[in-house]
Amino acid sequence: MEKCVFITGATSGFGRAAAKRFAQAGWSLVLSGRRIERLEALKETLGDQVPVHIIALDVRDAEAVQAAVDQLPEPFNRIGTLINNAGLALAPQAAQKVDLKDWHTMIDTNVTGFVNVTHAVMPKLLETGEGATIINVGSVAGQWPYPGSHVYGASKAFVKQFSYNLRCDLLGTGVRVTDIAPGMAETEFTLVRTRGDQAASDALYQGTTALSAEDIAEQMFYIATLPPHINFNRVEVMPTRQAWSPFAVDRD
Ligand SMILES: NC(=O)c1ccc[n+]([C@@H]2O[C@H](COP(=O)([O-])OP(=O)(O)OC[C@H]3O[C@@H](n4cnc5c(N)ncnc54)[C@H](OP(=O)(O)O)[C@@H]3O)[C@@H](O)[C@H]2O)c1
Repeated sequence: MEKCVFITGATSGFGRAAAKRFAQAGWSLVLSGRRIERLEALKETLGDQVPVHIIALDVRDAEAVQAAVDQLPEPFNRIGTLINNAGLALAPQAAQKVDLKDWHTMIDTNVTGFVNVTHAVMPKLLETGEGATIINVGSVAGQWPYPGSHVYGASKAFVKQFSYNLRCDLLGTGVRVTDIAPGMAETEFTLVRTRGDQAASDALYQGTTALSAEDIAEQMFYIATLPPHINFNRVEVMPTRQAWSPFAVDRD
């Protein structure tokens, strides 16, 4: 198994925790995200432990994604695991109140950016073959509807279906594909969703026990290091203290 992991959205939350988890096990890291200062800080912290290559990258820019992958130096061009993690939710209000730009940003990032990276990195994973893994970060929102999820949930349903479909095409190559679908996890996700409203973010996580970024990173590491003959198709992970609500009914 090639012990090199390519992580998108490594500057925060799940991606950053995954970088630390894989580093702990001696994997080389290719870390990307838009915030270069955070990538540099990670390289500073983890660079003593393992080889680290950082790329300031907006996943929405297909040409930049392809160029970054084409220019990967040794040994980072032999990728064992891709973690397609970059993503965001915006506009928690009802669909009818959302600015169209926010829908476009979510589609451009969670769908277009996601396929940009997959398309660019896939040849490297095929070269690796048996034991290579693509871990796509979906969400419970891709399976279960809830108010204010509109395009975000739909974009994560895309992640789920694309993951299943990739499995069909990659059959026989040894490359595995998993859709990991977390429930409520405390990261900067809600801060982004509320456009920097720290009080709203704190309120969401207050008085309960959300998943941590490290919880999800641990699952990612587990999936990537399973014996090569095992493929987890989809892993849905919720905090014990989160569940569904009854159906909503409109009454007179
Ligand atoms: N937290 C949750 O409750 C939860 C639950 C289910 C699924 N998820 C999913 O988990 C993934 C990670 O989210 P998180 O919770 O860790 O949130 P986070 O702390 O806000 O991290 C999001 C990461 O995505 C990167 N990103 C966003 N837009 C990007 C772009 N255009 N190009 C490149 N990178 C971009 C950010 O990096 P830069 O800003 O530096 O570019 C950041 O590193 C997302 O796909 C999210 O939808 C989160």
